[in-house]
Amino acid sequence: MGLAERMTSLSGKNALVTGASSGIGRGVAEAVAEAGAHVALVGRDTSRLADVKRQIVDTGGQAVTVAADLTEPGAPDRVLGETLEALGSLEILVHSAGLFEPRPFEEIEVESLDRQWAINVRAPFLLTQAAVPHLSSGSSITFLSSIAGLIGFPGGSAYCATKGGVELLTKALGVELASRGIRVNAIAPGNIRTPMNEHLMADPEYMEAMLGSTPAGAVGEVDQIAALAVLLASEAGGFMFGSSVVADGGWTAA
Ligand SMILES: NC(=O)c1ccc[n+]([C@@H]2O[C@H](COP(=O)([O-])OP(=O)(O)OC[C@H]3O[C@@H](n4cnc5c(N)ncnc54)[C@H](OP(=O)(O)O)[C@@H]3O)[C@@H](O)[C@H]2O)c1
Repeated sequence: MGLAERMTSLSGKNALVTGASSGIGRGVAEAVAEAGAHVALVGRDTSRLADVKRQIVDTGGQAVTVAADLTEPGAPDRVLGETLEALGSLEILVHSAGLFEPRPFEEIEVESLDRQWAINVRAPFLLTQAAVPHLSSGSSITFLSSIAGLIGFPGGSAYCATKGGVELLTKALGVELASRGIRVNAIAPGNIRTPMNEHLMADPEYMEAMLGSTPAGAVGEVDQIAALAVLLASEAGGFMFGSSVVADGGWTAA
């Protein structure tokens, strides 16, 4: 086995991936399973979760589904409990569940702000709190942040506020949990082709403006983010604590 394969193997580890029923979370779940981890797939849509499980099992991986609305009272504790019961232990936690409701600042209703905060910040915060007592040294936690946590854009105020929170939560936990050998990092993607933004990408004006701000001149693909999640959970990311890995086609570098 070569260095790259050895350093990115997740063999013998157990993972919990939220948002596993769609988009980036689905790609991450499939990728960590392919790298050898046994995965708990968390989402609300039971039939899409079952599809993802089938896909993983059909390709030789191992997965269980745990259906939950993570914003419901008690859900993070229940999800963690069911995951531990099914897998026995947990070494990898990836928070991909999220919500993006862009709107001009003056039109944002407080319910939209609350919805985005509840799933983008509060749910991963509480799920991490439930998980940490069960994580041994060498475990990892990865948040899906966004370039919206690093820079502003019109219509993004509520979402940017939540992703800015995720960026600093990553740093704070990265520092606080480092002495226990638990690595906390984030991935900050730019525009990735997923169901979250397919309606936006169907709009030629949006695409023109978006590609114009992206030096690479392209939209990112789920696999490019999923592979980073494998890296962060593996030995290859073993010296990464409190980092946020930007994958945005150069948007924030320009
Ligand atoms: N796509 C991008 O361009 C992009 C860029 C930067 C950052 N991100 C971030 O990457 C993450 C994944 O985005 P995506 O594009 O993959 O989105 P997506 O395709 O819309 O998937 C969102 C996932 O979140 C889950 N979810 C939403 N609300 C939930 C709740 N209350 N309880 C449990 N699960 C819930 C959904 O589950 P169900 O479908 O089962 O309800 C779904 O699996 C998000 O945090 C997003 O902010 C995405």
